[in-house]
Amino acid sequence: MAGRRGPCYTEDVDLRRIGLHPDFWHPVARSAELAAPGTVPARFAGEPIALVRTESGALFALEDRCAHRQVPLSKGAVSGERLRCGYHGWTYDATGRCVDVPYLAGAAPNGVRAYPCREAYGLVFVFPGDPAKAAGAAFPEVPSFSDPSYKTRALDRLIRCHYSFLHENLLDMNHQFLHRSLMGGIGTALLGRDSGDGWVEARYTFKRTGGKRPWGEKLMIGERDESSQDRDTMTIRTSYPYQTLTFRRAGKAAPALDLWLSYVPQDREQRTNRAFGLMSIRRPALPWLLDLFWPVIARFTDGILDQDRRVVELEQLAWDEQGEDRNQEVFPVILSLRELLARSGTAIPSRSF
Ligand code: FES
Ligand SMILES: [Fe+2]
Repeated sequence: MAGRRGPCYTEDVDLRRIGLHPDFWHPVARSAELAAPGTVPARFAGEPIALVRTESGALFALEDRCAHRQVPLSKGAVSGERLRCGYHGWTYDATGRCVDVPYLAGAAPNGVRAYPCREAYGLVFVFPGDPAKAAGAAFPEVPSFSDPSYKTRALDRLIRCHYSFLHENLLDMNHQFLHRSLMGGIGTALLGRDSGDGWVEARYTFKRTGGKRPWGEKLMIGERDESSQDRDTMTIRTSYPYQTLTFRRAGKAAPALDLWLSYVPQDREQRTNRAFGLMSIRRPALPWLLDLFWPVIARFTDGILDQDRRVVELEQLAWDEQGEDRNQEVFPVILSLRELLARSGTAIPSRSF
């Protein structure tokens, strides 16, 4: 994996003070935001980034501060394949070089930083770290996105907590009690866990302990024999810095549900994250049924995700009030995850002014 320069993990490290490592491809916007030539402001850990769609449809990413007087370049105007700052019209190309100062013909002082930029799965990714590492860094693979047997829903929400709370929330499936109003009674059993270089994985199965199966869940993963439900498997993996969840029905090789997630810090302190997700659901024998019931599935999953969002934001609030992480974590999967996140991250730069 890309270079790690985080601190060695010890119990003394407060995970909520560890920054997400920038030497990865991180999504910062959805392609739909840049459907036409124009600009969109984005952020990675407090760094302002201007995303630019040119008139030919190409995409580039620049530091969102004009070299002249530091105003956001995302307030500028696209001109052909270039971007003109909205104030005095200094003009930048895709490499960040200032190629024209309109009122001083030929003058081209230093430009601004350009970020390596790629578009995939309806998302715009940038490489906010060392640009020399971008070409060698693994780009996330989301095969279900282009597989016609699946329909994919893009998730995009702002969540006011450190990204580590989000990884912990998904990887620790022992929180089904939180979802009791939507899911009824669910018993969770850990089938196994593994970890390796840059990843931690847990496999679970579930058994209904009360209430009825909600319609939203039935529509997502289909009817099933209740007696076989404890052979269904949910595999959740943090593959730094991304997270995936795969649900397989008993005896089926292809996942019924395949979820890819990335949590991208917006502010310098990394206490607000934009969570991007791709939730792919396998089409049933009558594929159009999934389209028909898509709004019901969306409402159901939004309900679950809202419950998760509210609880992780409360965790962050407790951290803010106490100024440190006082969690008494006991679950080995999460202890292993915390170590991975701390080891793979980087120090949050402190403000020197
Ligand atoms: S501030 Fe951008 S051109 Fe002057
Ligand atoms: Fe949850």
